[in-house]
Amino acid sequence: MNNSEATQSLIQSFEQAGQGQVFAFFDQLDAEAQAQLVEQASTIDLSEVASLVEEHVVGSHDSTLDLEGLEPAPYKALPANGGDAAEWEAALAAGSAALKAGRVAAFTVAGGQGTRLGYDGPKGTYPVSPVSKKTLFQIFAEKVGRSAERFGARIPWFIMTSQINHEATVAAFEEGNYFGLSREDVHFFSQGLVPAVDYQGKILLAEKGKIAMTPDGHGGSLRALVRSGAVAKMKELGIDVLSYFQVDNPIVQCIDPAFVGFHILGNSELSSKMVPKAYALEKVGHFCVQNGTSLVVEYSDMPNEMQEETSEDGSIRFNGGSVAIHIFDRGFVERAGGDAADLKLPFHRADKKIPFVNAKGETVTPDAPNGVKFEMFVFDALPLAKNPVIIEAAREDDFSPVKNAEGVDSPKTCAEDQLRMFARWLKAAGESVETDDSGLPSITFEISHTFAADQADFIAQWSALGDKPALSDGLLIQ
Ligand code: UTP
Repeated sequence: MNNSEATQSLIQSFEQAGQGQVFAFFDQLDAEAQAQLVEQASTIDLSEVASLVEEHVVGSHDSTLDLEGLEPAPYKALPANGGDAAEWEAALAAGSAALKAGRVAAFTVAGGQGTRLGYDGPKGTYPVSPVSKKTLFQIFAEKVGRSAERFGARIPWFIMTSQINHEATVAAFEEGNYFGLSREDVHFFSQGLVPAVDYQGKILLAEKGKIAMTPDGHGGSLRALVRSGAVAKMKELGIDVLSYFQVDNPIVQCIDPAFVGFHILGNSELSSKMVPKAYALEKVGHFCVQNGTSLVVEYSDMPNEMQEETSEDGSIRFNGGSVAIHIFDRGFVERAGGDAADLKLPFHRADKKIPFVNAKGETVTPDAPNGVKFEMFVFDALPLAKNPVIIEAAREDDFSPVKNAEGVDSPKTCAEDQLRMFARWLKAAGESVETDDSGLPSITFEISHTFAADQADFIAQWSALGDKPALSDGLLIQ
């Protein structure tokens, strides 16, 4: 039996915190299982759990947002939509210079559980490209690698996993030979886990010797960057600009020089891309300002009438949809992910069906929510940041996530959006491509991101290409 003094004092601290049930079956476990439970329990911050329970579970947890003074956030419109073309040119030049100077890293959050997709494995290993069925990770690797080649600089890539998928993620990169990148340019680190609790605030056991723990949300990336030493590594590498995107969105411009430039020229600590909402009640967060502070208001926190409000010209007033594409200043990450109490991201509560071990030691799989998971959201960093910059992006150039197995935001819609994008790139380069009214080409083909990372890159590469392949079904341009 694992009976060391340290173990006894750990068990005692759980008992004192009213969480002694975590060790209810300790005596029934073999030595190895006991050691595993002790190790897992020792990662838990009991005072954090106590305040989460107080605030979100047993307290009144009235988190209704005060809507007083809420306005749509200003943003830099695309030149095609009335934005200042000279300003975009200047941003492009500034961003390109920062990239050439090696100041920029890519950053992917890939610690989620991807339950909606229902795929057995890290989501980044899901195949998504229309012809060669490249995985999400390979697509990002190729875009990052191509951008590095284009700007003649190293672009390190930081990838946040969680304990649940870390090993499988690293194994996929090993197996894929880092998809053409240098192994030393890819940096993995794991995010934190938080225990799930029942409606009395008691930490749940997933097994007799295992606590039910879940990743602390994409907002957990800030503290994970600091705690894992990733941010110190960035400092060592001379990186101060961090291009953030999520693992489920292969359309994203992983490295967008104009976005980098707006961030730098605006002296911004946290920049964001917005896309105009597809329709008034689209289920996205809204970029807003309130008393001079920028924030993202979730659709669930904004009354429908407000989401549907129109301006004098008839356009949707709260039009800025958040698509989880950001740029972080490294110094800001150091502060917001550190211990500064005034810069802490809040946790949110999510009610879930959490399988658990009951007092009799039986495993129960509930058919209704029985407990609470806690998560931080990355966009909650916005009110904490100085000089936040928001720029407009065209949805078709930046956002088509794979969230669900079928229907909206599914592998099918994402493959079609990639095809539309490839067709647009070819048309922009002067080729004719037969498409339907939605821009979907009549044949299936693919442009490898080793060839071009974005449309401007494609036009340059294509026009420099001597022997151009004829467009045909199944063609892979690489
Ligand atoms: P989602 O909100 O879509 O969550 O994550 P998810 O866990 O991937 O999927 P579902 O809800 O279970 O179906 C958006 C992005 O944030 C990352 C995900 O990996 C994805 O890139 N994420 C989410 C984390 O890195 N950690 C988390 O704790 C949660």
